[in-house]
Amino acid sequence: MTIEVKARHPALGAEVRGIDMRLPLDAETLEAVNDAWMKHLVLVFPDQRITDREHVAFTRNFGDAEVFHQTSLHLRSERVAEIFLVSNVDEEGRLMRPSEPSQKQLSSSRQWHTDSSYRAVPSMGSLLHGIEISRTGGITQFINMYMVYDDLPQSLRSAVEGRKARHDFGMLHRIVGSTAPTAAERAAMPPVWHPMVRRHPVTGRRSLYISSIYNDAVEGLDDRTASQLIADLTAFAAQPKYMYRHEWEPDDVLMWDNRCTVHAVTPHDPTERRVMHRTTIVGREPVMAG
Ligand SMILES: [Fe+2]
Repeated sequence: MTIEVKARHPALGAEVRGIDMRLPLDAETLEAVNDAWMKHLVLVFPDQRITDREHVAFTRNFGDAEVFHQTSLHLRSERVAEIFLVSNVDEEGRLMRPSEPSQKQLSSSRQWHTDSSYRAVPSMGSLLHGIEISRTGGITQFINMYMVYDDLPQSLRSAVEGRKARHDFGMLHRIVGSTAPTAAERAAMPPVWHPMVRRHPVTGRRSLYISSIYNDAVEGLDDRTASQLIADLTAFAAQPKYMYRHEWEPDDVLMWDNRCTVHAVTPHDPTERRVMHRTTIVGREPVMAG
C-alpha cells in the first residue's frame, strides 16, 4: 500500500489515505504510518468501516492493547474486552442520561488529559473509532505538548523541570461527582508519580506531561499551589496555535500519541447519540527528561 499524508493543522494532526484497517499492514506501510505518527502526533484515517475485532487487530500493529481495569460502570465492552466505550448509548442500544454514573465519569473527558496516565506504565497511544458521531458538538481537540514545553515561560518551566506530579484514577469521581471506584478497583490502580517533563522514547524530544483530570499532587508543593500550577500549565497549553480540533465524520479513526499530546472533547446535545469505540496501546514507563 502507498499512503498519502496531508497535514490538517500546522501544530499537529494529519489525514492518512491509502490504508484499509481491515487488512494486514505490510512492514513498509507500517513504517510509513509510524513515521507519519511521530511527525504529526495525531493521525486521521477516514472511511474505516471496521469491526471491533479489526480495530483491536490494527491496534496490535503498534503494541499490546490495554484492558480497562474498571468494570463497575460498564465502560469496558462486554463483547471485546480491549474496547473502551466512549458512548452515550449502551451495548443494548439504549440512550443514557447525562446523570448516569458512566456518563458523569465520561464527562471528565471535556477537561484536558492524556489517556491512562494514572497507570504505572501509561499508554503510548489511543485509537478512537467514530461509529455514530455528533453534529452538535463532540469535537475532539488535541494539543502538541512538545511545542507547549518549548514555549513555556521561564516561571512555569522552572516549576516543572525535574519534578514529578501524581496521577490518581480516583480523582475522576471527585471532579465529576460519579460513583467512586470499588475497593478492588482502587487497589488495582494506586496513585503513581510521573515526571512533568518527559523524553519521548522514539523522537527523543521533551514534552510537558500533565493530565488535569488525574493530577492531584505535585512533588514539593502544597495542594493549593499544586492545583494552581496544573491549572496554569493547562491554560497556557490550551492555545489555538498548539491545537487541532477534529470534527468527526462517520467511520473516522483517530490515532494519537498519549506521550506528547493532551486532548479534550467539547460538549454535545445529550439527546443526540454518540457512539465511539477506543483501544489503548500499552506504553513504557515515562523517562524524565534530563
Ligand atoms: Fe481521553
